[in-house]
Amino acid sequence: MPIRYLIAALYVDASVPAQLGATLVSQVDGYGATGEQMDSVSTRHEGPTRPTTSGGGYSPVEVADDGSVIVQLEADHPGFADPSYRERRNAIALLSLEHRPEDPIPVVSYTDQEHGVWRIVSHELSPKHRRHACSAFLDAKESLGLPSDHVPQLSDVTGLLQPLTGFGYQPVAGLAPLREFYSSFGRRTFFSTQYIRHPSVPQYTPEPDIIHEVIGHANQLADPGFAEICFAVGGAVDRTQSKDALGFLSRVFWFTMEFGVVMEDGEPKAYGAGILSSIGELDFFQKASIRPLDIREMGGFEYDITRYQPVLYSIGSLQELHDRLLEFYSSFDDRVYRSLSSTR
Ligand SMILES: [Fe+2]
Repeated sequence: MPIRYLIAALYVDASVPAQLGATLVSQVDGYGATGEQMDSVSTRHEGPTRPTTSGGGYSPVEVADDGSVIVQLEADHPGFADPSYRERRNAIALLSLEHRPEDPIPVVSYTDQEHGVWRIVSHELSPKHRRHACSAFLDAKESLGLPSDHVPQLSDVTGLLQPLTGFGYQPVAGLAPLREFYSSFGRRTFFSTQYIRHPSVPQYTPEPDIIHEVIGHANQLADPGFAEICFAVGGAVDRTQSKDALGFLSRVFWFTMEFGVVMEDGEPKAYGAGILSSIGELDFFQKASIRPLDIREMGGFEYDITRYQPVLYSIGSLQELHDRLLEFYSSFDDRVYRSLSSTR
């Protein structure tokens, strides 16, 4: 059974999930507790919709005229026919919609079942990380010390991450618009969803859930070098005006911070959050066509998000990666984009 996956915040047109083709190895039984818990929680949004919530893209969050918050799931979403899961998604989306940046991050009372999903995925990812993650990610993961037995609150993630690199997490109900998502990096802020994938398929998500956001990105952001690169991304976005330049930048981000690999000990190791949060991608990425890192080529490469990434870009060392990406993001603007795109 294919696993589909989407790093939705990275797309200008985030409407198609990716098929990662991994095999399910376990499931979490039952889902009643979640629905029972959330039945008593209002899913009515009384205030204005926060600008960080997109009305479009995959699983868009919609606020009806009566204030009801509805997360629209595609018909092939694992939770589509599960009213308890739908209600849960609506309620968690409401928490983010009601949240104001100056307020404490809303607490999600995760159920035993949701903790179980986190536990399953964490335990399956750990040996794959040891085998396939680059040294900087592994060191950062150890420094951050995320729990593997329960879903952490975003406030907990911030509490662990900020002392290391200054980055903190803020909740978002659905897809963050591309410009806002990247721009927040310049404030050392990462917008993150709080929901977790459907328990019937713990290895599968058609959208970026908290497992991707935290296990993939927080571990990455715990490394000072990667955090510095992401911080520079925020500045680059703020210097661009054109949608095309933003698209170029997002594709470079895709092939680096989401799906990048670096050579270590003579073999490609993953540093991209999209690989490192996906059981399927971790099994597949070494079979991809791995090309030398090329900013111009990556920025113009129209990837297919409906499958495992068949083309990846690698570089010889973490230091070289850091230097190249920091140089690119620190100087990128509309003028640089025009120069790069005109010579493609
Ligand atoms: Fe991501």
